[in-house]
Amino acid sequence: RTSRWQVECRHDIDTFTPGFLAMYESLKPSEEHKTKQQQLVDSLTKSVSKEWPDARLHLYGSSANSFGTSHSDVDVCLEMEIGTESTVEILLKLADVLRTDSFDNVEAITGARVPIVRMSDPESGFSCDICINNLLAVANTKLLKDYAQIDQRLLQLAFLVKHWAKLRGVNETYRGTLSSYAYVLMCIHFLQLREPKSLPCLQAMEHTYTMNVHGTECAYFDKVHQLQDFGAENKESIAELLWAFFHYWAFHHNYKRDVISVRIGNTISRKQKNWTARIGNDRHLMCIEDPFETDHDLGRGVDRQTIRILREEFERAATMLQYDDDPCVTLFEPYDYEN
Ligand code: CTP
Ligand code: MG
Repeated sequence: RTSRWQVECRHDIDTFTPGFLAMYESLKPSEEHKTKQQQLVDSLTKSVSKEWPDARLHLYGSSANSFGTSHSDVDVCLEMEIGTESTVEILLKLADVLRTDSFDNVEAITGARVPIVRMSDPESGFSCDICINNLLAVANTKLLKDYAQIDQRLLQLAFLVKHWAKLRGVNETYRGTLSSYAYVLMCIHFLQLREPKSLPCLQAMEHTYTMNVHGTECAYFDKVHQLQDFGAENKESIAELLWAFFHYWAFHHNYKRDVISVRIGNTISRKQKNWTARIGNDRHLMCIEDPFETDHDLGRGVDRQTIRILREEFERAATMLQYDDDPCVTLFEPYDYEN
């Protein structure tokens, strides 16, 4: 008897590739979207520089890592010297400045792990989160962007997975599921493990880029134009990869034993990371190591109930891709909270 994870993909899986590619194209942000985003950045820069002339503004997250859809928000990081003032004081002052400059719904959210000001842009309607000196996020944004340039199937896969996660209600960290950032890392990890590989492990290669953020070294090979053909040996189509992705997380990954590590390009054991017991709020039921902040588990909000929900959703998706007549539709059916 073959176990479930040894199941082979259906033979007609490639009939769905054009449908998935069309979907990917429709999720990509338009040129108009990018122009509006730039206008928002420009008007924000103007507001900020009045109060903090030396502040530098960085875009991070999906508006800069190339994994953004037309529904994504705009994430901005202000880099500035702070003297005796606390980050929270600066955020409160920033909120005042933005209100004066007639941005909408300005709100300082100071109790979060990363305190931010949230607002929306009256011109574009985009929602925008602003944080201070969160340069690790700026560094991991560049890492994701560089990975995306190696094999276009990463972007295709990640767009479809993010879209699926949003519609199925499993992209909500405040409810104990996973962030978009975590899903992209899962996609990279998965493509690093294909045979033949679709993606390399950039942090294990020669370090051509180094950025030191408060003592944390962010270093990896960033000359990705040299890696354009890296994934060429791997001929898998996007439909096959999407099926294999869900199959991997449903049946293959060893949640009890392993930590997903994009930094290593493989899994490492929870024992080795000392992520074996619950520490404070970190339950470590699904372990995803941040590539730079290596003691940060991106799955730390996952609890006993949501790990079950996540695994059921992975299984549902794999099954639909395996047996359904129209998986391009059924895969993305919105989760019905009522029933
Ligand atoms: N981030 C991080 N650590 C986390 C969560 C997020 O460093 N635990 C940083 C990452 O740089 C990430 C950014 O914050 O890219 C924004 O996170 P998130 O909103 O989850 O992802 P986006 O890529 O912006 O996706 P979306 O399109 O859903 O906005
Ligand atoms: Mg975002």
